[in-house]
Amino acid sequence: MTPLLAGHDQPAHEPVLLNMVLRFLLGGSPSVLVDGTVGGGGHLRSILEECSPDTRIIATDRDPDAVESLRRELGSDDRVVLRQASYVRVPTILSELDIGRADGALFDLGLSSVQLDSPDRGFSYRINGPLDMRYDPGSGDPPASEILNELPQEMIADIIYHYGEERRSRRIARTIVSSRPLRTTGDLVRAVSRGCGRYDVKALSRVFQALRIRINDELGQLDSLLRGLAEWVAPEGRVAFLTFHSLEDRRVKRLFADSDLFRPADPAWVSPGPEERRKNPRSRSAKLRMGIRV
Ligand SMILES: C[S@@+](CC[C@H](N)C(=O)[O-])C[C@H]1O[C@@H](n2cnc3c(N)ncnc32)[C@H](O)[C@@H]1O
Repeated sequence: MTPLLAGHDQPAHEPVLLNMVLRFLLGGSPSVLVDGTVGGGGHLRSILEECSPDTRIIATDRDPDAVESLRRELGSDDRVVLRQASYVRVPTILSELDIGRADGALFDLGLSSVQLDSPDRGFSYRINGPLDMRYDPGSGDPPASEILNELPQEMIADIIYHYGEERRSRRIARTIVSSRPLRTTGDLVRAVSRGCGRYDVKALSRVFQALRIRINDELGQLDSLLRGLAEWVAPEGRVAFLTFHSLEDRRVKRLFADSDLFRPADPAWVSPGPEERRKNPRSRSAKLRMGIRV
């Protein structure tokens, strides 16, 4: 499939494990599907091409820009209900629409390439821009700069350690605090590099990941989604998660393997093959976990 351009001249987000996601979700012949993290609509576009014309799709994303640009593209396709909202609000949206339960759902966790590559969002250590990192900049939540400039050193170290699994968290937190005030991603890159003694790509990606997870309360949101999922997914409904790190993956795995409300699909998970990883290096850490409502 040719990736569409998302907005002006930004490269599109390449949907990960697209064929497998389609085969799994549409294999259940769903009447109602949820795309909880619709992003640039990469998965959604193909779902629309391949699902039955009667299937309704409820699509959410926290990012107002992503939702706005998809709204423009989809126009008046009345199969799709698109909302700028966290996936945590899906059950409320279903009940507003008078829909009892969904037959399938997709959650492609984390951030999109469009967000990563946008200088004004502050998600990437490779591009200089304001230290923001919020999926929804209008949410009223503090941007990364506020967290880094105001939290005590110890708390910054804990964020880096717990959400980035970075062993040098204390040293890095010390150089962050001594570099205050930090305003741009470039300021953060310099502070982390001083903490590591060099420009260290692995440390930088762990620190940026950790902050993104904390700023957007990603694990809190995921836990809340997983707690309520069984209530709005119909029996035999199919749920797919694309996870990108162990903190996410282990939570989803636990729900599908250890609860009596879901069973793991067969196979329980797949990861991108060498060809996809070569073409789309950002898919390298992805795992598609699939579960079925009992
Ligand atoms: C990997 S991208 C999705 C890409 C999409 N599947 C595609 O193919 O274009 C992840 C998206 O999830 C969104 N997101 C992150 N946390 C969210 C949440 N709690 N609720 C809804 N959307 C969320 C991000 O804004 C981002 O657009």
